[in-house]
Amino acid sequence: MQRTADFNTLFSPFSLAGKRLRNRITHASMSLLSTPAGRVTDRFIQYHANRAAGGAALSVTEPLAMMRHQANLPRIQVWQHEDADELRRLAEAVEGKDCRLLGQIQDAGRGRHFPGRNPEAIGASALPDDLSWTVPRALTGAEIRGLIGEIADSAAFLKSCGFSGVEISAGHGHLFHQFLSPWSNSRQDEYGGSWEGRTRIVAELVSALRDACDMDFIIGLKLPGDDGVRGSIGPAEAAILGDLLTRSREVDYVCFAGGAHARTLEMHTPDRHGPAMPYMGFIKELRHHLNGVPLMALGRITDPAEADGILSRGEAELIALGRPLVADPAWPRKAAQGRTWDIRYCLSCNTCWGAIIMMHVPIACVNNPRVAQPDEVDFAPRRAERRKRVVIVGTGIAGLEAAWVAAARGHEVTVLGASDHLGGKAWLREQLPGGETVSSIYDYQTTAARRAGARFELGRRVTAAEIIAAEPDAVVLATGSRMIPPAWLPADVLQEGMVGDLRACLPEVLRHDGRQPGTAVLFDTDHTEGTYAAAEALRHRFERMLIVTPRDTIANDVQMVTRQGILRRMAEQHITVVPLSEPRWSDGCEEGQLEIVNLYNGDVILVEDLALLTYATPRVPDDVLAEPLRAAGITVIAVGDARAPGEMLFATASGNAAGLAV
Ligand SMILES: Cc1cc2nc3c(=O)[nH]c(=O)nc-3n(C[C@H](O)[C@H](O)[C@H](O)COP(=O)(O)O)c2cc1C
Repeated sequence: MQRTADFNTLFSPFSLAGKRLRNRITHASMSLLSTPAGRVTDRFIQYHANRAAGGAALSVTEPLAMMRHQANLPRIQVWQHEDADELRRLAEAVEGKDCRLLGQIQDAGRGRHFPGRNPEAIGASALPDDLSWTVPRALTGAEIRGLIGEIADSAAFLKSCGFSGVEISAGHGHLFHQFLSPWSNSRQDEYGGSWEGRTRIVAELVSALRDACDMDFIIGLKLPGDDGVRGSIGPAEAAILGDLLTRSREVDYVCFAGGAHARTLEMHTPDRHGPAMPYMGFIKELRHHLNGVPLMALGRITDPAEADGILSRGEAELIALGRPLVADPAWPRKAAQGRTWDIRYCLSCNTCWGAIIMMHVPIACVNNPRVAQPDEVDFAPRRAERRKRVVIVGTGIAGLEAAWVAAARGHEVTVLGASDHLGGKAWLREQLPGGETVSSIYDYQTTAARRAGARFELGRRVTAAEIIAAEPDAVVLATGSRMIPPAWLPADVLQEGMVGDLRACLPEVLRHDGRQPGTAVLFDTDHTEGTYAAAEALRHRFERMLIVTPRDTIANDVQMVTRQGILRRMAEQHITVVPLSEPRWSDGCEEGQLEIVNLYNGDVILVEDLALLTYATPRVPDDVLAEPLRAAGITVIAVGDARAPGEMLFATASGNAAGLAV
């Protein structure tokens, strides 16, 4: 790997349990949802092999099934000691690329992220999970010791398959965290009652792992640094945990994370509405409570300069990157080669979390359409056999993705944009609260497209006839979508432009500073993240703000960690949510009155000082160009919203596929 003088500390070697790490970068444990049958899959191997090929020095898997009672989970079943060949193939694919592979040890205990209770849950005490209300069965002392034995046995098996170590997940509100916290552990036996008692299960596990796997086996420990729950574990308590659990010096590194369950789930994967590196405040303090055991810094560290700064200021010895290495597995390689401009940066949008937890599909990323593909690392699209003339209509992230990929394949690419800025809806999203990171998608795409020779013609809406006259071999249609006006809005009101959709009203709202008297009403049957960022922008502009929806709550289509933040911000900013309702248009609206009717009981709320009425509704493709172009015999590929209005994830994925298809 070619090195530059930059980021010297980040790229200096390190050693854990006598094993050499080529640099300080760890791939943090990420659940991939790609082992549905509990067996190692090619996709699982490819994902980890790619992070190793991209330059990470250490990679932690998602939780593996290390205990017999985890037999029915869709995790790689290690406790059975079967599948050794596949585990070896996995280890070789990672270790063979000079990256140490660790298997994660975790049990969710009473924690559950989806509806329903877990009847199989085990826990420290029979106290309810604050998210699913699951009440676990409290483990007996003998059962605890049994589990420790099973885990140690599984870890020894992993070692025999070529793994370099394990990481104990004792944070994030899971089983070990539940033992550590006085909030979830009310035991009076040797596994509760005091900090020594509550840490005993982890301390005994560490010793058992050391005994079973010897000194040349890495044991990492992920602890809660601040779980955000009153009476549980804040930084002061984390310092006690850190001290008690490192005294024996059997642990090789400690890493601190945030959050537990329910209200603090959003702290697990801090998003773009908060500061960069939000855990560093407590991490650098906790460093002094680890008896000299190396500390791994974690949490929204997205940029090589940030990572190198943490290390060179002596705030930690190692850096863990979760989402940033999903977005770009070649992040380490590119940083080492001085190609930071070429990194596809993590947006901290948590779409990856939504994929596995809400959509129940393998991990995916808005800024990386090729997660776990064989060509993912430093993706360079294969050259086309014949150079074609390709026209891309639209400059949103779907069109730009198609543009750079097609241009990099050697095609003659012209990008046509009605607007004179790039990014489409993503550009608008960037102007809204929590939007600063969005531009990293289209900045990357634009730079890559220009580098590959794509031409841009912006600021003018083209006609089908003009495109046909240019005689393209193929057209990628990335012309977006438009919102369907709600049925309660009379056609003449729409025609007169008295009420417009959310996107149409935003530029005007954003142009002004200061608050205007009156109430802004947003009718919401969209329920995606951008709508609530826009609601926040409206709230800054108007005295009062109401979101009216026919559903039982808002943000139904947003995954849980992001929804939690949305609900919190709506509450903090006193944005009133009116569920199960829709507006009723009447003559009074013109005098600034609006009736909001409950769809179930007919009750009416009267808004008497209406200052703005707008709507966010499902969208239909804006694809009027498709038919005339196809009629002229031109190959047309619609991408993004122009194909099927939806998430950014689909926009970049369909753009990437189109770029490869033309
Ligand atoms: C999609 C997703 C899956 C995750 N799965 C795990 C997991 O299985 N085990 C774990 O300890 N942490 C898991 N995490 C948390 C990460 O390891 C990490 O602590 C968190 O994302 C913050 O780091 P980052 O900002 O670098 O992503 C997951 C996070 C995400 C976004």
